[in-house]
Amino acid sequence: MHWNRLATSLALAASGAEALLRFSCSQLVVERLDPLVNPGSAPSPHLHQIVGGNAFNITMDPKTPPPSQATCTTCTFADDFSNYWTAVLYFKARNGSYHKVPQKPNSGFEQANSGMTIYYIPYIGNTKSTVTAFKPGFRMLVGNHASRTKEETSQYRQLTYTCLETIMTRTGETLDMPNKPCKVGIMANVRFPTCWDGKNLDSPDHKSHIAYPATGTFENNGPCPATHPVKIPQLFFEVIWDTSKFNDKSLWPTDGSQPFVWSQGDATGFGNHGDYVFGWKDDALQKAMDTNCNINCPQLKTQTIAAGNKCSRAVQVNEKVDGWLDAIPGMSPGMEGMSK
Ligand SMILES: *[C@@H]1O[C@H](CO)[C@@H](O)[C@H](O)[C@H]1NC(C)=O
Ligand SMILES: *[C@@H]1O[C@H](CO)[C@@H](O)[C@H](O)[C@H]1NC(C)=O
Repeated sequence: MHWNRLATSLALAASGAEALLRFSCSQLVVERLDPLVNPGSAPSPHLHQIVGGNAFNITMDPKTPPPSQATCTTCTFADDFSNYWTAVLYFKARNGSYHKVPQKPNSGFEQANSGMTIYYIPYIGNTKSTVTAFKPGFRMLVGNHASRTKEETSQYRQLTYTCLETIMTRTGETLDMPNKPCKVGIMANVRFPTCWDGKNLDSPDHKSHIAYPATGTFENNGPCPATHPVKIPQLFFEVIWDTSKFNDKSLWPTDGSQPFVWSQGDATGFGNHGDYVFGWKDDALQKAMDTNCNINCPQLKTQTIAAGNKCSRAVQVNEKVDGWLDAIPGMSPGMEGMSK
């Protein structure tokens, strides 16, 4: 299947055959804010987990990009003040209560305080190609929190889940939430489109300024469409949800469905989505892409994971998001049942 092939390509890439940046960004905050889709709203409609620079805020003016506002970042590349965020996963118990699923650091980043693994990939395979790094003020969104069908999520091509048997499992990606207990956890994979219109830093739906290759895929070096001719790096998040303490089948719904629900009230998994506000300092990202460095990048300024863990920012929307809850923050109890 399509997504298995992608995973295989990436496994090759991670083994050192290709070029890519792979790094850890620890948790910054978990709260109901979304400066991309709902600027000015505190709270925003649903809960997010956010990593990156501490300039993340209720509103983020594209005219004052993160490097001019942030004083630290949770990422190990110290010049990356971007913000990256996704929804938050909850477990729904048989009695209707919800509990936030903890996050787990990825392989190689065990000291990280939750967060995610970020990749910027200039190309996959043997055909080297050049990419144009994002410009100050650039932002984008992939996926739709309201998607509840395979057809809807397939438009985004590469929003998937990996059922982790071990921390290294990278095969068997699915478009919907795994329907069986996953020993080590569920990894949500969020890959963004790789073509840009070359003009707009954003668009009203935060998606129209970006596109997928006209034919083929990013992975097989398919060309960008004439409307979006500029090839950009493939931005990719891996987010690991440690479902292990909820894996006892006697806790799962009696109707055979799986118990995990995204914070927008989605129990299908098709509403997987990710947000990006570019915030690399100067031309650090372009330099890294041009030199095709692999995983580590000697010319980039780095900091330890421990230093990234220390970067913080005050929570602005105060509400209970952890422990047993009658409803997911911002949602009505049981609403995920209505959206199926
Ligand atoms: C967030 O925005 C508010 C005003 O909207 C401002 O007062 C505050 O300083 C900002 N916080 C950070 C960390 O930038
Ligand atoms: C609901 O079920 C969970 C898991 O069994 C339990 O820990 C929690 O206390 C229960 N909540 C209520 C309100 O009964």
